[in-house]
Amino acid sequence: MKILGIAGSCRKDGNTDILLKKCLEGAMSCGASVETIFVRDLKILPCRECHSCSKTGKCVLQDDMQKIYPKFAEADCIIVSSPIFFYNLPSNLKALIDRCQCMWARKYVLKRPLLPQKERKGVFISAGGTKGEKLFDCAKLAVKYFFDAIDVAYHKDLFIRSIDEKGAINSHPDKLEEASSLGKHLTTL
Ligand SMILES: Cc1cc2nc3c(=O)[nH]c(=O)nc-3n(C[C@H](O)[C@H](O)[C@H](O)COP(=O)(O)O)c2cc1C
Repeated sequence: MKILGIAGSCRKDGNTDILLKKCLEGAMSCGASVETIFVRDLKILPCRECHSCSKTGKCVLQDDMQKIYPKFAEADCIIVSSPIFFYNLPSNLKALIDRCQCMWARKYVLKRPLLPQKERKGVFISAGGTKGEKLFDCAKLAVKYFFDAIDVAYHKDLFIRSIDEKGAINSHPDKLEEASSLGKHLTTL
């Protein structure tokens, strides 16, 4: 099983990086092969709404996204990790998702879905500094429809409130264990 992690935090070794790492380590301990994309290290231009992709299924913009698209097709499972920024996803991760408009166009305009024959699962890991009841609602929807565009079914999530300082998650071994168990669980699918 191949698992692709998409780390959406702008902060290296921040809370969601740590949770993603634990999750992937759990999966690896059960035999999965894993790869992590750190969105902060990539050059991803914003979608410019040219709609070329509605005719070709491809994005005309030439940047790091061109090496990311094939990775979506290769993965059996995709895990997105991200902090909450203003009740939503950070802009660099959102840019990656917006650039998947070409995948949406392939699926829904051109009727050429990426991998219609394969049932793939997606997981969303997120953390936010406050306790708001609806803290993850907006980001969850964005991730759900990102997964849908790349033919991944939203399977599970791990949301942690009241985690703010860099590395604060390390004081919550139960949450780290939860992340690890989630990774192990994914290998049983
Ligand atoms: C620009 C910015 C916006 C944020 N907006 C929110 C927010 O709307 N709600 C919240 O609970 N926390 C918010 N936070 C706090 C982060 O979600 C929190 O620190 C999280 O643990 C960071 O995860 P990371 O270390 O993986 O990047 C914000 C932080 C930043 C820097």
